[in-house]
Amino acid sequence: MIGIICAMDVELEKILEMMDQKQSEIVSDIVYHQGKIGDQDVVCAVCGVGKVFAAMCTQAMIMKYQPDCIINVGVAGALDPQLAITDIVLADDLVQHDMDVTALGLPRGMIMNTNYLAFPTDRDISNRLQAAIDALNAKREQREDNLITTKRGRIASGDQFISEKAQKEDIVGAFEAVACEMEGAAIAQVCYVNHVPYSVMRAISDTADETAQMDFTEFMSIASAVTAEVIRYFCMA
Ligand code: ADE
Repeated sequence: MIGIICAMDVELEKILEMMDQKQSEIVSDIVYHQGKIGDQDVVCAVCGVGKVFAAMCTQAMIMKYQPDCIINVGVAGALDPQLAITDIVLADDLVQHDMDVTALGLPRGMIMNTNYLAFPTDRDISNRLQAAIDALNAKREQREDNLITTKRGRIASGDQFISEKAQKEDIVGAFEAVACEMEGAAIAQVCYVNHVPYSVMRAISDTADETAQMDFTEFMSIASAVTAEVIRYFCMA
């Protein structure tokens, strides 16, 4: 069984529409939908925005449904200038950009009393997501539709919507991340300590600068439609 976690309704909406034999259950105010996409068993949930909801949802999903892997799907702000809106980022690893115990001599992002800084994603799941994108692109080419561009790299998560050039430069300077969002690294940390393989796939909704607020509102639905299509191909593969 695959677990899918999104932060917002708009990010899960089109994935939910693909699911058959749906059954739902509520745990701590989060709705978990179990069902099938093709022959693939799936459990999915909208966790809410930010690291606390993301961690709660991931732990409850693992304990209640024992998924074989978890994929965090949604939108992100671009930090890498090569990324355009609706491009996909597959995380190689994730950091918490707002974890800061530098005052006690730790590197930025390091979680005190552990050696955790960056949480690596499962290479096999990320490769299978890339294969799904490639298959989808082959279909798009036939339809003479735009192809999806993918980048692999580090995603930085934190409880902040990044909308200023200075914030963006600070995160890039500290972590060399290519995209930012608000849940991925929390989901990664919970999966990591529970030994559940995970990956994070995000479509760019904005460029995390002064245009971010407008672009996020305008493009989150279009970007979410792209990741939903990839999940369909991933489950049908
Ligand atoms: N998710 C999408 N865009 C974002 C941004 N600019 N900052 C944080 N999370 C985001």
